[in-house]
Amino acid sequence: MINKKFTRPVVIAVDGPAASGKGTVSNSLANHFDFARLDTGLIYRALGLKVLGDGTDASDKQKVILLANQLSFDDLNQENLRSEKVGAVASRVAAIPDVRAVLLKFQRDFAVHPPAEKSGVVLDGRDIGTIVCPNANFKIFLIADKDVRATRRFKELQERGLRAIYSQILRDIVDRDARDSLRSVAPLEPAKDAFVLDTSKLSVDATFVAVLRYISTQNKD
Ligand code: CDP
Repeated sequence: MINKKFTRPVVIAVDGPAASGKGTVSNSLANHFDFARLDTGLIYRALGLKVLGDGTDASDKQKVILLANQLSFDDLNQENLRSEKVGAVASRVAAIPDVRAVLLKFQRDFAVHPPAEKSGVVLDGRDIGTIVCPNANFKIFLIADKDVRATRRFKELQERGLRAIYSQILRDIVDRDARDSLRSVAPLEPAKDAFVLDTSKLSVDATFVAVLRYISTQNKD
């Protein structure tokens, strides 16, 4: 149980670079606490897919902003959002400040009014603890070696039956990390009050245990 001293909805922010384990931890947290979950990367991916489908140049800011304004929650349920190709376009459009401003509202609305009136939310992404929900009750920032992350992503794509080339995945992850960390607006960085956890040598279960331990220490009266 999360202590009543926290305002409702309780917000758990999970940030970190590509394939650091955010999705798995966020799903486990949402199930454990019966909270709603928003994978904010899917919003940027859905926009990336729209840009690709439309034949728009990802550097055509005005056109990309128009497409961002047309996004709906239904767009997050598309099957082909997870490819590295879509991820690469997502990280290009995510660097456009006006695009981020449009998508910020989408994310904050979810955090304030979670579906099914859940008592809490888990949002995962790059800037949840710093920009989207700076007052989140709990902030987790996951990191892992780039080779470990590339191996995880490689296996994940293989399990989905998608074509995967390890060296290409590693290169995509390194490029995306650089773009996400160096952009001028909402760069990938831990909030000052985040719990930073290196998952390179941790199993899925051990990661979850460490995160729950952090939450329980913050949750004390
Ligand atoms: O799953 P993975 O960690 O590879 O990526 P993702 O979370 O699906 O995010 C895809 C891209 O969207 C990232 O590389 C970021 O450029 C962007 N993104 C962002 O800028 N801010 C967020 N809150 C979430 C994603």
